[in-house]
Amino acid sequence: MNTDRIVRTFVEYFEERGHHRIDGSTLLPPEGDPVLFTTSGMHPLTPYLEGRPHPLGRRLVNVQRCLRTTDLEEVGDPTHLTVFEMLGTWSLGDYEGPQSLDWGYGLLTEGFGIDPGLLHVTVFGGDEQTGPDTASLDLWQERGLPVELTVEDNWWSNGPTGPCGPDSEIFLWTGDTPPESTPTGDDRWVEVWNQVMMRHRRLDDGSLQPLPQRNVDTGLGLERLAMLLQGKRSVFECDVFDPWRRTVPPLWHVDGPSLRVVWDHLRSAVVVIGDGVRPGNTGRGYVLRRLVRRVLTVLWQDDPSRSLGDLPDELIRHTLDHFRQNEELDVVRRVLLEEERRFGRLLERGRQILARPRFRSGPLSEEDLCYLHDTHGLPRDLVLNLRPQ
Ligand code: SER
Repeated sequence: MNTDRIVRTFVEYFEERGHHRIDGSTLLPPEGDPVLFTTSGMHPLTPYLEGRPHPLGRRLVNVQRCLRTTDLEEVGDPTHLTVFEMLGTWSLGDYEGPQSLDWGYGLLTEGFGIDPGLLHVTVFGGDEQTGPDTASLDLWQERGLPVELTVEDNWWSNGPTGPCGPDSEIFLWTGDTPPESTPTGDDRWVEVWNQVMMRHRRLDDGSLQPLPQRNVDTGLGLERLAMLLQGKRSVFECDVFDPWRRTVPPLWHVDGPSLRVVWDHLRSAVVVIGDGVRPGNTGRGYVLRRLVRRVLTVLWQDDPSRSLGDLPDELIRHTLDHFRQNEELDVVRRVLLEEERRFGRLLERGRQILARPRFRSGPLSEEDLCYLHDTHGLPRDLVLNLRPQ
């Protein structure tokens, strides 16, 4: 089942159950929002989770592109991407959690054909502020699924304050042996679907207040679901990456996790540029800068003559089309190349300065790093790359 068909199956299943499809937003949250990028499908819906009536009703479904910088360090492992798409459903004060879990179970087992014997779920076990989520526990026990109770892992929030609630996560076994252990005990259990009973608001003082309505907010990572349904071992092997697999290895010989970093970061950089961000030293621009510079660091390790200018048009076009973005291909290419030139010049300057007697031998002190940054504009990461300690 390719990703287009997965999306269609998902959306139609929920449309048949009274949900309206809404358009996904860009990666840029609305003006005044404290986060840099949209990190989850619920993000653009925050006002509606907090009680404002949504023009399309109380049951919604969509596909939302998301960017998570918290996962940057995990990129290169089999299941994390910087930019990914989230399939989401919402009950805005309409049906309750058990109904959502039951539909989720139905879609996974009947719609996508997953063997129920390979599923495990987790449920919020309760803490000093909120009791255990017995409604979810009862539903899963009726369906005969093994349940693990946790506390922190089953509480979802978008930040320190704001809408939040207990969640129930559905995991799929990916091991070669029959399922064993539990999701927190064995990482061959891969999380597929997170369903949040979004009915609280966390206040500045840490206390919880009930939201005006009891919502359900659910999200599945599309590429991860595709990986599982296509029987692959990593998200990079699913059909979304077909053109990358075909065109990048003949161009640049980079191994294993580094190749994944190159694919992930370049694809993410194209999407971020496609949403109008340009490299800079702060905020979103800095995230973009880090993505591009990390790719270049990997590429130049073996061969400093490699250039993003060699990136096939097909990859940029495929990525912009996939995310339904209108940015001109040439503009994306120009932004990447300008950043490459800037980084190249900075590296050159860094090498010259580090060759001075003051820095030539011994590890760099904190004072050296500050001086190199403040006086010569050389970021700490770059210096440490040029001169590992
Ligand atoms: N907000 C939840 C998540 O991001 C469910 O969509 O996992």
